[in-house]
Amino acid sequence: MAPVISALFLSLYLLFNFVAISSQNDEYDQTTAKTMEAFSGYQIHEPPFQGSFSSLSVDIESLQRQIDELSTFSDTPAPSVTRVLYSEKDVLARRYIKNLMGLSGLSVREDAVGNIFGRWVGSEPELAPVSTGSHIDAIPYSGKYDGVVGVLGAIEAINVLKRLGFKPKRSLEVIMFTSEEPTRFGISCLGSRLLAGSEELTELLKTTVDGQNISFSDAAKLAGYTNNEDLSSVLLKKGSYSAFIELHIEQGPILEEEATSIGVVTAIAAPASIKVDFEGNGGHAGAVLMPKRNDAGLAAAELALAVEKHVLESGSIDTVGTVGILELHPGAINSIPSKSHLEIGIRDIDEKRRNLVIEKIYQSALSISKARGVKLSEFKIVNQDPPALSEDSIIKASESACQELNLSYKKMISRAYHDSLFMARISPMGMIFIPCYKGYSHKPEEFAAPQDVANGVRVLALTLAKLSTS
Ligand SMILES: *[C@@H]1O[C@H](CO)[C@@H](O)[C@H](O)[C@H]1NC(C)=O
Ligand SMILES: *[C@@H]1O[C@H](CO)[C@@H](O)[C@H](O)[C@H]1NC(C)=O
Ligand SMILES: [Zn+2]
Repeated sequence: MAPVISALFLSLYLLFNFVAISSQNDEYDQTTAKTMEAFSGYQIHEPPFQGSFSSLSVDIESLQRQIDELSTFSDTPAPSVTRVLYSEKDVLARRYIKNLMGLSGLSVREDAVGNIFGRWVGSEPELAPVSTGSHIDAIPYSGKYDGVVGVLGAIEAINVLKRLGFKPKRSLEVIMFTSEEPTRFGISCLGSRLLAGSEELTELLKTTVDGQNISFSDAAKLAGYTNNEDLSSVLLKKGSYSAFIELHIEQGPILEEEATSIGVVTAIAAPASIKVDFEGNGGHAGAVLMPKRNDAGLAAAELALAVEKHVLESGSIDTVGTVGILELHPGAINSIPSKSHLEIGIRDIDEKRRNLVIEKIYQSALSISKARGVKLSEFKIVNQDPPALSEDSIIKASESACQELNLSYKKMISRAYHDSLFMARISPMGMIFIPCYKGYSHKPEEFAAPQDVANGVRVLALTLAKLSTS
């Protein structure tokens, strides 16, 4: 660009920013901008905010106070947090979030299962919005940062942009997802799964009850979501958002260990769970001689080793497999196991590779049962959610945000899964991680330093700004 034109651009840009910052109300000064565009012949809000974010400031004191306040809506004493879906405390916490959204000038909407949306309408509201968010439910005796940083932090990111005088082109939307944790109804990421269009789940929820035999529908009604007979209204279409990005604590030790400020997530691993049962003849542990045995316990042990072998054969460090449950029946020292039960979790960021491991485990289960003369009475794939890759353009936006903010970052994989895994089904997706103390999560010791939270919010704000103008 010729120097003269750049200078013109710059002065127009400064002027524009001045206008934007000095305007106290939320209405975008369309007339001024349009007149200026017509005068200059250039589109002045493309790209109007480059370089203007050095003063981007997070009100970390307020944000920390909000994190602390939200943690008091808990069914167990501090420092632990217990906030279960549709409980009294959950309802109070939801009210708290809606109130904050309102204070930030967002227009608030809730769907039939209580996903909460706060929208900042952009200058081109007909374009698909950019969304961000996470969850605030907390498993029993957990901490106050998991999910919460991605909801309160998102609202603060909006505040940061508003204070700066930024005006989004695409609308920006903060989402608080209902029940990321499976605590009450055994279904993880309930809200985001529904948003992402799971018709299966709308059916399943009709018959779902909690541990007290309270139906999902009744529990939702008690929490004020009375209109939940037909959940199809919750489902969103692909393309409803131009981008979704979630800010979250890492829940792992890498960023802290490496003293890196930000993790830019490139992929989210997803689990598949398998239940296996073997049945043999059992018998007296002294009387039945070795050649006569059909030992269901040894079949299970052999399968557990086969799981490790097949996982290692995948050749990728990202493939992991765990036999987390192995039960023997009748469980007596003088009795040959007549039944065994295994639960196996396989995770990967590559669905094909993960499914190949599952297939190999199945083949091993068959051959072990044949060789040992035991019956493979069950081999059930309980769930098999596909992993997700982050969108390149969102990764790049987050990376350049880190660079512009002089924050160290590294690209990394999310080995836990999040609402983002499901949002990826309907929207280009990305995630931003911040360090957390020793990688602790899901326990009261969970902690993220205010400076790290503030860094995450700044990166989120700048990434949202970039995505909202593209
Ligand atoms: C980043 O560092 C450069 C060079 O040290 C500096 O000029 C710039 O102002 C810094 N930006 C921010 C956002 O701190
Ligand atoms: C759960 O509630 C349903 C309907 O109220 C009832 O038919 C069923 O017997 C209950 N089940 C248990 C285990 O209490
Ligand atoms: Zn979480």
